[in-house]
Amino acid sequence: MRKIKVLTVFGTRPEAIKMAPVVLELAKHENVFENIVCVTAQHRQMLDQVLELFKIKPDYDLNLMQPNQNLWNLTSKVLLEMKNVFEKSKPDVVLVHGDTTTSMAASLSAFYAQIPVGHVEAGLRTFDKYYPFPEEINRVFADSVSTYHFAPTDTSVENLIKSNIDKTHIYKTGNTVIDALLYTVNNHKYDLSYLNLDKNLKTILLTSHRRENFGEPIKNICYAIKELVQKNKDIEVIYPVHLNPNVRKPVFEILDNVERVKLIEPLEYAPFASLMKESHIILTDSGGVQEEAPALGKPVLVLRNTTERPEAVQYGTVKLIGTDKDNIIKNVQELLDNKEEYNKMKEAINPYGDGLASKRIVDVLKNIRI
Ligand code: UD1
Ligand code: UDP
Repeated sequence: MRKIKVLTVFGTRPEAIKMAPVVLELAKHENVFENIVCVTAQHRQMLDQVLELFKIKPDYDLNLMQPNQNLWNLTSKVLLEMKNVFEKSKPDVVLVHGDTTTSMAASLSAFYAQIPVGHVEAGLRTFDKYYPFPEEINRVFADSVSTYHFAPTDTSVENLIKSNIDKTHIYKTGNTVIDALLYTVNNHKYDLSYLNLDKNLKTILLTSHRRENFGEPIKNICYAIKELVQKNKDIEVIYPVHLNPNVRKPVFEILDNVERVKLIEPLEYAPFASLMKESHIILTDSGGVQEEAPALGKPVLVLRNTTERPEAVQYGTVKLIGTDKDNIIKNVQELLDNKEEYNKMKEAINPYGDGLASKRIVDVLKNIRI
């Protein structure tokens, strides 16, 4: 019997973090799989940080990122370039992840080539076409062309069933982000002393990058932070600023040189995981951080109005607070002042997986027909 050719495609930081454990698991079974990796490099520096950490050397690197790229250019380039990769590598199955442009365009390209697609992190939904934009439609699309659906939670399984996806090809696996997080915190201990965190201050970790928060919302977030540090002399805010220029411009304009606000470059995953562990409160609009922080027992205030990850909200560790300045201030202040409320939110819970999601995905792939 010949080996099953699995082509794993990813392009951005979060996809790389969440696909790395799958690639490493496939590599453990080299007698079963030909393990081929293609990166679109929708992100460049932030992707390379992850490839280095997990020691993954892509077989194909499309090197597509352009400064301040737009959806049309990136989508068409991924669609076309993947055709060449399929012609050269002739995979039996293509794995994509989540809801990025890379995932949507690579899955469309595989569909045109009539190659079965496996969608990792399938079934997440807000059921709002424009929120998050364009991710909601990207994941609906990837789900609809995929053959194998690797859903992280019961809710995502239910969403797929509601979308009329063939039940026999839905697999509840847990989220591979927990595999990545556990691998990283167990194998990499990080000394964060170079960040000069003041032990006498409470650290608030902030990340923000969502397209629908560009413009007024991101400015509101920054103004809220400015007021919070002025009011609370016992906190400091540390913000690894995403490389997207639509984020960097307003953030540096409003928060550069503000006392007890540290704007730093995006951190590698291992130090970032350590920083999450050190933080008192996490403020974020990130999907991945919403999944990781509850596993570390950190209260998360989400700078969005809705989420496709309702599980930790239901458990009470994650709260949606939107991007209204006064509402952000009110919610952070409450967590700073009200110990009971804080303790309720900091329960370590982990609805997203047990660290074995990649193994479950690879077990399914071992049995596909080629
Ligand atoms: C993308 C994804 C989003 C995901 C996010 C994770 C889409 C439509 N968006 O958004 O779903 O949550 O990644 O971070 O797929 N840049 C760099 N270096 C990097 C990365 C980005 O300079 O390593 C800059 C470039 O100018 C680039 C810009 O950021 O053009 C935007 O990158 P892009 O991937 O288009 O959008 P993100 O906002 O990062
Ligand atoms: N992350 C990181 N360094 C940082 C900020 C975030 O490694 O400076 C990690 C984080 O732990 C999570 C992932 O990046 O695993 C989330 O990526 P992002 O927020 O860019 O995208 P999203 O998850 O919203 O799609």
